[in-house]
Parts: sequence; C-alpha cells; structure tokens
Amino acid sequence: MDPVAALGEYQREALAAIEAADSPESIEAVRIEFLGKKKGRLRELQAVLGQVSPEERPVIGKQFNSVRNAVQTALESRQKQLSRPKQAADALDVTLPGSPPQLGTRHPVTQTLEEFRDIMGRFGFLVVDGPELEDDQHNFASLNIPEEHPARDPLENFYLATAAIAGRGLDEPPVLLRSQTSTVQIRVMEHTPPPVRIVSLGRVYRPDTIDATHHCMFHQMEGLMVGPDVTMAQLKTVLQLFARAYLGEDVAIRFRPSFFPFTEPSVEVDMKWGDIWLEIGGAGMVDPNVFRAVGYNPDEVSGFAFGLGIERFCMRRHNIPDIRWLYENDIRFLQQF
Ligand code: PHE
Repeated sequence: MDPVAALGEYQREALAAIEAADSPESIEAVRIEFLGKKKGRLRELQAVLGQVSPEERPVIGKQFNSVRNAVQTALESRQKQLSRPKQAADALDVTLPGSPPQLGTRHPVTQTLEEFRDIMGRFGFLVVDGPELEDDQHNFASLNIPEEHPARDPLENFYLATAAIAGRGLDEPPVLLRSQTSTVQIRVMEHTPPPVRIVSLGRVYRPDTIDATHHCMFHQMEGLMVGPDVTMAQLKTVLQLFARAYLGEDVAIRFRPSFFPFTEPSVEVDMKWGDIWLEIGGAGMVDPNVFRAVGYNPDEVSGFAFGLGIERFCMRRHNIPDIRWLYENDIRFLQQF
C-alpha cells in the first residue's frame, strides 16, 4: 500500500472513531485500536512505513509523527470531555451569578432622630427618655396648664379608658398618650437638682386632622437648659446652631412672639422652606410656676425650653412634600433613604 495513502486513511478513520466514541469505555477501545503500543493500527502502519526507501524515510517519518500527534491530541480532548460527569438538570451551578440579598435601611425619621441626638450631644446636652403613656400631672398640671385650659380638652387628646388598663380602678386619675414631650422636662427636674441640660426625643399623639403637614402621631425633640443665668439669647443661639448643623449654613429661621403656659416669654419658631415659613416648634424661658412645681427656686435659676417637630426637619432635608409618606410604609419610598 502507498504509505502516504495509508497515513491519510489511518488519520481519517482514527478521527472519525474518536468523534463517534460516546463513553469513557468506547474512547478507551478507540485508543487501544489506534494508538496501542503492542498491536493495533499504529503497528500495522509502522510496518507499511518500514518499506519506504531510505531517501523517502525522513519525509514520511515526519508525516507519521504529525499524524500520530494529531490523533493523540484529538483523543485526549475527547477523553476529557467524556470523563466530565453529566450535569443533572436540577443541579446547583455554582458559576451562576448569585441573587444579592435585599438590605433594609433605617427609616428616614429614625435617621433624623439619630442625627439630632448626635448634634445635641456635641452641644453638651444629655439625651434622656420619657414614657409615652402619661398622667395629668406631667402632661398638664406641672406645666402650669390649669384645669379649664382648652389644651386638656378630650377632643384635643387621646385619653385612655383607665378601666381597661390592668391594675387601675375607675376612680383613678386619667392617663393619656402624651401630647407633647414637655412632660420630660418635669420628669427630669423632679429628680435632678439644677443645673440641667437635656434633650428628649420621642413620639407624641394628637387627634389632629391628618394632612400634608399634620399627623395624629409625630416626633418631637424637647430641650431644657436650667442654670444660674440661662438667657433667651442662649436659646436663640442654640436653635440657630442646631438648625444649621442639620439643614446647612444657609437655613433661615425666625422667632415670633407667642404664648405657652409653661414658658414666659414664649416664641414660635419657623424655618424658611422655599417661599414659605413653616412652623417647626415652640420655645421660651421656663415659667417660674413650672420651677415651683418641681421644687426649684425661681429666684436662683433660670432656664429655656424648646419643643421641635422632627418630621418637618426630615421633610425639608429630603424634600418630602407630604408627612403621610413617612408613615405609609411604601417600600418604594423607604428604599430611597
Ligand atoms: N410643648 C410645646 C408644643 O408641643 C412646644 C414647647 C416646648 C414650647 C417647650 C415651649 C417650650 O407645642
């Protein structure tokens, strides 16, 4: 047989057999048939090539080597393919991209509360807490709010049916969800001799008509500073610095004369938002009657107090036009903070 034709035939048949092998066993059979050292097609081929003339030998030898290498390479790659375990349809493919876990964020109001505590802490104010369920004494009486005052009106407050509270009798004094954090001023002064410098942040409740800027539950930050000579000028400075620290240097706030039973003189505080002034809270110098109610001597100390609505600051910072959005728990809204 012509050696060149024999080489060609060997290569063609070997590659076809390799291609056709479909299991580790059949590819092993192909290897033995075409590349086996002892007998098989390679030996036969060598026998044919042994008959070529010495002049032809180097050329044919070269061809032989390249054919054998080609067959060897094809066989090895097919062996690899066939030895890989078959992927079951429902098997875990660890090379697929993962689905990232959905991380929650802190509620924008919570973020605001935390930042307020931070700022006031830097100003040297101690952060304290007070209960949301309050009695007449702390929500009204000690704050110089007399019996007939309209602020005590059942229509202005969430009074609780005391009989429904475990351990309380019908004849016991009423309790309510606090309508203001000023209750904490009283609770602190009752137990602490002056000087005091505190803030208290928390929820307050009022049966207000709900609209874009009012809710029946919102948050306030109460501030109280009492000492030998605390002044109105200090109050204005603290509120200015606070507003700038949270909203930026260019925020404008203004003070309007007002009235609260527990401060004298009193002011209302507004901040500029676009073209309008929005009320953000009340403040003033602690009324002597409040000092008397907690056992302080108004001739020895003076103090200022303020109560700010927290949501409105948060709304201005993030440009939120409607307070209700903060409490609808719409994930599309909350995810943005
Ligand atoms: N407690 C008042 C309110 O809720 C605000 C206030 C606090 C005013 C402290 C004066 C001093 O409207």
